[in-house]
Amino acid sequence: MVQKELIVAEGYRPISSVWEGNDGDLIENMLQFYASIAPEPILDATYNKGRFWKGSPRNVVSMDINPKFNPMIVGDNRVMAGVPDGAFGTVVYDPPHVGPQGRDKSSKKFDEDFGATVACGKEQDWSLSYLYPPFLEQAKRVLKPDGLLLAKITDMVNSHRSKWSHCDFMRMADEAGFTVCDLIIKIRSGPMTSTKWSTAHHARKRHCFWIICRNSSRCER
Ligand SMILES: C[S@@+](CC[C@H](N)C(=O)[O-])C[C@H]1O[C@@H](n2cnc3c(N)ncnc32)[C@H](O)[C@@H]1O
Repeated sequence: MVQKELIVAEGYRPISSVWEGNDGDLIENMLQFYASIAPEPILDATYNKGRFWKGSPRNVVSMDINPKFNPMIVGDNRVMAGVPDGAFGTVVYDPPHVGPQGRDKSSKKFDEDFGATVACGKEQDWSLSYLYPPFLEQAKRVLKPDGLLLAKITDMVNSHRSKWSHCDFMRMADEAGFTVCDLIIKIRSGPMTSTKWSTAHHARKRHCFWIICRNSSRCER
């Protein structure tokens, strides 16, 4: 009987489609697995406190609309004023995934810490997906050909409406001229809860999606 042999290319290390560790380690793994050109410099277009890069030796340019976080570039990632074309090997994007949570003091701190300061009401169809197309246009502009876009997207329930933000993002990335290459599910220890809601009724609220896009018409290297 002939035994099947698994042929593994030299240096090949597979990546799991489900991730239980932290974002920083996952980003490093994604850079090593998907990058087909040098992944640096990296633009983190929603830097906040830079939690992704704690202990990372990567060359990261920080951008945030909120000057409170002291990013290198204080700016709107839907405009990226002054950022040159084709400057980055990777763009990382972790946009707000909920709208403002209320007016009391603790909610305000939550809003600032997680960037939940962007309008998300009836006019926006109770969704933040309207942020994606202008950002995607800029991400494509500032990325080198074949550069990577790594986006962390969490589906949301807003005003009792369940939104499929990660599907919106993938469709819009495709429309913007990216190739959507892959999707990794990152699991939290439990669903997000807050002072406004203490139970979550959708299983997918326990995880977020990392979407891997290439600035190219094809995904293969
Ligand atoms: C979810 S937080 C990012 C957290 C960050 N990845 C971390 O690990 O520390 C979202 C950030 O996006 C920023 N932001 C929201 N809209 C933006 C925009 N249009 N342009 C740039 N930054 C924006 C917010 O100020 C907030 O700091």
